[in-house]
Amino acid sequence: MSVDARPDGEVVSSPPNAQGYRGFGLGEFTFRRDEYFVYIGWPTGSHVMSADAFLRAIQRDVAWDFFYGTVNFDGVFGTVNHYGTVDIFAGRYNDSYRKAELDYAENVETPDIRETFKAVLDDWTNEGFDPFAAPHETGSAFGIKHGSNTGAVTRARVAAERMVGVPGDEVPRGDDNGHPVNRMFRDVPIEAPVVEAEPGFEGEVAAFNLFEYLARSQVTWNPSVVSACKDSLFCPTTEEYILPIIHGNDRVEWFIQLSDEIQWEVEDRDSGGVRARVIMKAGDVAAMPADIRHQGYSPKRSMLLVWENNSADLPDLIASGQTPTYPVEF
Ligand code: PHB
Ligand code: FE
Repeated sequence: MSVDARPDGEVVSSPPNAQGYRGFGLGEFTFRRDEYFVYIGWPTGSHVMSADAFLRAIQRDVAWDFFYGTVNFDGVFGTVNHYGTVDIFAGRYNDSYRKAELDYAENVETPDIRETFKAVLDDWTNEGFDPFAAPHETGSAFGIKHGSNTGAVTRARVAAERMVGVPGDEVPRGDDNGHPVNRMFRDVPIEAPVVEAEPGFEGEVAAFNLFEYLARSQVTWNPSVVSACKDSLFCPTTEEYILPIIHGNDRVEWFIQLSDEIQWEVEDRDSGGVRARVIMKAGDVAAMPADIRHQGYSPKRSMLLVWENNSADLPDLIASGQTPTYPVEF
């Protein structure tokens, strides 16, 4: 692929190919797509992914600003967040690639990968395809380039500063602001809680119905911050089909299954060796250790509460052994 030279911080791209898609470069990595597939190249190898799986993964990486730790698009390609810079890798967390010395990684400034990935996502997403939607609720990712879906791929991420429903913070969802109840959650009670504040405290007490909030979510596998208490973030999400990334943790995460069921494949974060299969049913609670990677499978739309510790100190504390990779000693 020929790419233009770039001044700092600009996206390196080539003109549209025969299928209408631009090619992109980031460091020594190259990216191109055709009707069905995405092709990733680096100095020691190359990789192919289905275009829909790739777009679902890059959508999360962009929207979450590279998330906590590692975002594996699949068993070969992905990113590691160092909160200011990002590693972009191929085969680095795959035993076979490493043994064959075919793995490759580069560290890039976050703004460079952010702008490049945003441009890839926007150029390669066709009209009618929504990478955040459940497969049953979106059109197809495939075909020669036709239109775009910029509104969907640039959705603002919900990130409450205190709590959804507090004056000036994220607003509860309703029919009137574009959030109808999802087809799979028609049986969820959606009454608003009754707040009876003491006189003088009316403006300081807030409550919202979290089940209603989730029943009205338009997206899947997209934890949103609905409440924050210092570094303690409640990040519930609605899940359907497969988590489009394999997340490699750099801290412990707690999962509380609020409805239905998710099966989790849990692997060693660095080698990919199988560690566990966790079946979580409504009411189950699990702590995912800081040295694993995991991918969830949700056969019906379900509600999951992800509880994150947002402390910036945790990755170093855990990597240096000062803090254990698990949260509780029994
Ligand atoms: C996770 O990696 O912990 C995760 C990511 C997205 C979700 C749920 C869990 O929707
Ligand atoms: Fe995770």
